[in-house]
Amino acid sequence: MHLKILVTAGDGIGPEVTNEAVAVLKEVAAISGHTLEFDAKRIGGVAIVQDGTPLPAETLAAALSSDAVLLGAVGGNEFNSLAPDKRPEAGLLQIRAALGGFANLRPAFAFKELAVNSPLRPEIVEGADILFVRELLGGLYFGKPREWNKASGEAWNTMRYTRDEVARVARIAFKLAQVRRKKLTSVDKANVLEVSQLWRAAVIEVAAEFPDVALEHQYVDAMAMHIMNRPRDFDVVLTENLFGDILTDESAVITGSLGMLPSATIGGKVNLYEPVHGSAPDIAGKGLANPLGAILTGALVLRHSGGLEAEAAAIEASVRKVLEKGFRTPDLVRGNAQGLPVLSTTEMGAKVRETVRKLLVSA
Ligand code: IPM
Ligand code: MG
Repeated sequence: MHLKILVTAGDGIGPEVTNEAVAVLKEVAAISGHTLEFDAKRIGGVAIVQDGTPLPAETLAAALSSDAVLLGAVGGNEFNSLAPDKRPEAGLLQIRAALGGFANLRPAFAFKELAVNSPLRPEIVEGADILFVRELLGGLYFGKPREWNKASGEAWNTMRYTRDEVARVARIAFKLAQVRRKKLTSVDKANVLEVSQLWRAAVIEVAAEFPDVALEHQYVDAMAMHIMNRPRDFDVVLTENLFGDILTDESAVITGSLGMLPSATIGGKVNLYEPVHGSAPDIAGKGLANPLGAILTGALVLRHSGGLEAEAAAIEASVRKVLEKGFRTPDLVRGNAQGLPVLSTTEMGAKVRETVRKLLVSA
């Protein structure tokens, strides 16, 4: 297997965590005999400063000619006064649109060892394993018209979906549910929004193709509560773009830290992989960032772009083992009554590499 991976590390903690993810991938490649070819390009704030645009043409061209794009994070406080289309985040939205992936898979898995790290009671979170499928190219993020009309003091964005845009992401969610626990929860606000009524109707239509999957509908406000009260009841959760953005940050509470969550965006020309967390400028460059979300994102690259299931599973097993042994990053120490060892970003990366090496060599 030969995979060409473009790394767009971005801003803040992005470079630190993607370095660790890449190092783990290189370790796995060296042992398993697969060739991973890496290239690096700028995106986000660093690109605004150096190239005058959050998504340089060179980065986009390199992305389109890769097999996968691994992104760190974008954003920084120094860009807060810029208009949305000039900000680092615009670079991310542009690359998402150009690569065309519309199904953003965000697994929220509660590692047993981190249950004490969640502000929720361990008996609520233990065993929770949700796969969010967030529609990534529609809704308020991309709908037109959009404008802040300063003269009239009005601003508007448009939540827009077509039936086909809903159906294609629903189909991916149903397929994933088929190989999991065969339950799909579709999230909408159909008691208020027409676009949610279309969403629900389209999901119901697609459900007829998947009679083995149980479908339920939840309103987004109720869902925000259910995820906290009974996270174990959910398997695959299908949402539109903004609802998914909000609910997946919320679900970090189940896993113990936002730093644990990986994501993969599939369905387009080139898959895009990014941890769910942001650029965390307050801790950037200090070795405090948790690289496990990025490392788990690397596992998703192998699974979804390389078809390398065993290697992906080995990375995931290594993360679990490292947590079992008690190693933590600073975000994972709430309720750490035993005084478990707290590692820096690079130390945590090294632990995962050492563990994955042992796992793969002994396999
Ligand atoms: C995410 C982020 C992005 C989003 C931002 C950085 C544009 O919050 O990936 O969840 O809103 O999609
Ligand atoms: Mg978000």
